[in-house]
Amino acid sequence: MERTLVFLKPDAVRRALVGDIILRFERKGFSIVGLKMVQLSEEFVRGHYAQHRGKDFYEPLVRYVVSGPVVAMVLEGKNAVSVVRKMMGETFGCDSAPGTIRGDLALSNRFNLIHGSDTVETAEREVRAFFSEDELVRYDEDATRWIYDQSASEPV
Ligand code: RTP
Ligand code: MG
Repeated sequence: MERTLVFLKPDAVRRALVGDIILRFERKGFSIVGLKMVQLSEEFVRGHYAQHRGKDFYEPLVRYVVSGPVVAMVLEGKNAVSVVRKMMGETFGCDSAPGTIRGDLALSNRFNLIHGSDTVETAEREVRAFFSEDELVRYDEDATRWIYDQSASEPV
């Protein structure tokens, strides 16, 4: 089953929105296979957002993400990467559709509460960067027997 890396940014922690956001993923049917609160180092954040190096928002983005602890998690489920990105909403809070995390809870173009991996390849790399193998758990199929039809070879 597909996995994706999510972290709730310092504004989500400070605005006490961690529970609200995790609840949405649990209710959707995702399994939380890794979860921790961490203070990311500046070096780690610079690497994580390396694709944005040189853009005008890169330095403020780094300052924002290192400004306090984040809650990192690995979510597992069908099409986890794209489903989580849809649930997050557009990057800018003011453009995000109601019903999405950013659409319901954010207005800022930068303080937008959440990061989610944007491709399956990125997700694999980000999961490894944030979590060691022994920090991730496995669930048996009973945990998801009412989330998917498991009578076929693949969960439907
Ligand atoms: P993320 O990587 O954090 O999941 O967010 P994203 O894919 O929706 O957006 P991305 O384009 O990758 O930008 C990374 C983060 O940089 C901040 N940002 N500020 N114009 C701006 O001021 C601006 N543009 C982007 C946001 O915090 C965004 O999530
Ligand atoms: Mg991004």
